[in-house]
Amino acid sequence: MVMFCLQAVDWWSVGVLTYELLTGASPFTVEGERNTQQEISRRILKATPPIPEDLSPEVSDFISRLLEINWEDLARKNIPSPFVPKISNELDVSNFSEEFTKMTPADSPAIVPPNFDKVFKGYSYVSPSVLFSENVVSSDLLRPDPDTRPNTANLMTCKFKESQFFQNYEINLREGILGDGSFSVCRKCCNRKTGQEFAVKIVSRRIDCTREINLLRACQGHPNIVNLHEVYYDEAHTYLVLELLRGGELLERIRRKDRFTENEASQIMRKLISAVSFMHSRGVVHRDLKPENLLFVDDSETSNIKIVDFGFARLKQEKEPMHTPCFTLHYAAPEVLKQVANEGADGYDENCDLWSLGVILYTMLSGRAPFHARSRDDSAAAVMARIKGGEFNFNADAWAHVSAQAKYVTKGLLTVDPKERLRMIDLPSK
Ligand SMILES: Nc1ncnc2c1ncn2[C@@H]1O[C@H](COP(=O)(O)OP(=O)(O)O)[C@@H](O)[C@H]1O
Ligand SMILES: [Mg+2]
Repeated sequence: MVMFCLQAVDWWSVGVLTYELLTGASPFTVEGERNTQQEISRRILKATPPIPEDLSPEVSDFISRLLEINWEDLARKNIPSPFVPKISNELDVSNFSEEFTKMTPADSPAIVPPNFDKVFKGYSYVSPSVLFSENVVSSDLLRPDPDTRPNTANLMTCKFKESQFFQNYEINLREGILGDGSFSVCRKCCNRKTGQEFAVKIVSRRIDCTREINLLRACQGHPNIVNLHEVYYDEAHTYLVLELLRGGELLERIRRKDRFTENEASQIMRKLISAVSFMHSRGVVHRDLKPENLLFVDDSETSNIKIVDFGFARLKQEKEPMHTPCFTLHYAAPEVLKQVANEGADGYDENCDLWSLGVILYTMLSGRAPFHARSRDDSAAAVMARIKGGEFNFNADAWAHVSAQAKYVTKGLLTVDPKERLRMIDLPSK
């Protein structure tokens, strides 16, 4: 639409220029002093410029058609369009500015279809993880060359310069990212004034992360929950400035160590249980507890561990039919898979976090997840069926040395019926 209006504006200017060329005067100024900006504007909107009689009928017709616009009729859509753009189908964006349509789709949240060049022609969305990683797009945006012609990249650069977040924080693109998803990326950043380092989760404004922010805020003040320092917004992104956790994900540590001793696992579990109890007491259910969302503060063996990523969190008893399976399969509780919208009446809806703690405990003790694809041919449906049936065992060699009590807790947490599942208060505090 904007493009078409812009064209109309140009044609109007052609009318003014033609008038000036042929008459030596401007159509909307008058002799004398009544030529303030306001008076000219009013004349443009209200008056029809006088067309000198010596102009040929064709020329006067040409000028008046370009200049005499009844703005009210235009607003009421009473004026037939001088031209109608040809559109071959719904997805035809050939009338849009090439500046955008010639961009190749840099990222798509879904599998790119074979006819992407047509389907995505009008898209100019660039995923934050592309924008804030070292690549062609970001180097154009964040380190523009001296070419200051107004291309899209330069326009975006101006926006970044104006962005409050970038005024206060610096990101070094040469350093690797901390983590990413389709609509977000997590990077290290540095406060320009204090030099203090933080992590920043940059989320596209296409995603509303108000809930994530509010629920994380509601859970501040626990030693095992990530600290949210501050939040910024600009036109394209939301920036969650978080304390920087330098010790990596629990998943990496499980892989590196093969497995944890029962003592190590129980120390970690105790912290997680404390954090999850705290969350639940604040009415928040995390719903996405998994080793990727559990981060160590530093590299030491005795490092503290913290829960991150409230992107999937909900308030207890918040009714919401879950249609989109956005959970991570292997850690998802059976009732989440069954999409049983636990109405919350019994207060069992937070129990899905306990199931996830069970999966984490199992994984720490044995070095492998209780529910996983057994072979390349093992389908997601088969894994889901095993989760729903609570089919797992302690047969692996690693379990030979695990105490009966640890197995009892693991089994208690991995109980399919959320009402039968071990509850927070049943968990041993040792
Ligand atoms: N505060 C932090 N410090 C260091 N790394 C972090 C921090 N927060 C997140 N990360 C890393 O970024 C990854 C993605 O962040 P997360 O909040 O889980 O986003 P997503 O919603 O995309 O899963 C995490 O798995 C973790 O590796
Ligand atoms: Mg995550």
